Amino acid sequence: MLTTQISIENEATLRNLQAAYDGESNAHAKYTAFAVKADAEGLHGAASLFRAVARAEQVHADHHARVIRQLGGEPTGSIRPFHVRSTLENLNDARVGERYEIDSMYPEFLREAKGHNNSAAMLTFQWALEAEKSHARLFSEAIAVLESGWLIAARNFYVCTACGYTSETPEAERCPTCNLPWEKFEVIR
Ligand SMILES: [Fe+2]
Ligand SMILES: [Fe+2]
Repeated sequence: MLTTQISIENEATLRNLQAAYDGESNAHAKYTAFAVKADAEGLHGAASLFRAVARAEQVHADHHARVIRQLGGEPTGSIRPFHVRSTLENLNDARVGERYEIDSMYPEFLREAKGHNNSAAMLTFQWALEAEKSHARLFSEAIAVLESGWLIAARNFYVCTACGYTSETPEAERCPTCNLPWEKFEVIR
């Protein structure tokens, strides 16, 4: 019988990778629904932002999935029910989710992966952690301008297809997190 060997030291890392994969998959589903709601409210700029960050979370999920497979696992996740409220509330919900990943989830997962010297897991967690900081900043900015009624027109966002870093301007030659050239970024509107 063919069995998949997962070493004991990879078990905790694999569990964390699965949790991260599941979290990113759920964030992708949620932000996609939040974009539809923002368009319905005439807040097309907020919709653009949700679409861009949804794409970035998909980049994270895909990267985590690759590492899970490298370690002999199979990525599993299920989309849980979530609430779609007003766009302002959805932006706040999104910001809280990003802050949890930045302040708690990814630093913990990163520490665990470092403890076992698992470089593939360290890289995927590190890239996601850095990208989530760009997401939290963009959501905070959107909340500030939404409250003053400015986020109406659709706009471009630039998503790194390697690490999920997201920006409102193509400000540098390369991704500040993973060094990918800007021409490989995806423009999401
Ligand atoms: Fe994010
Ligand atoms: Fe990047």
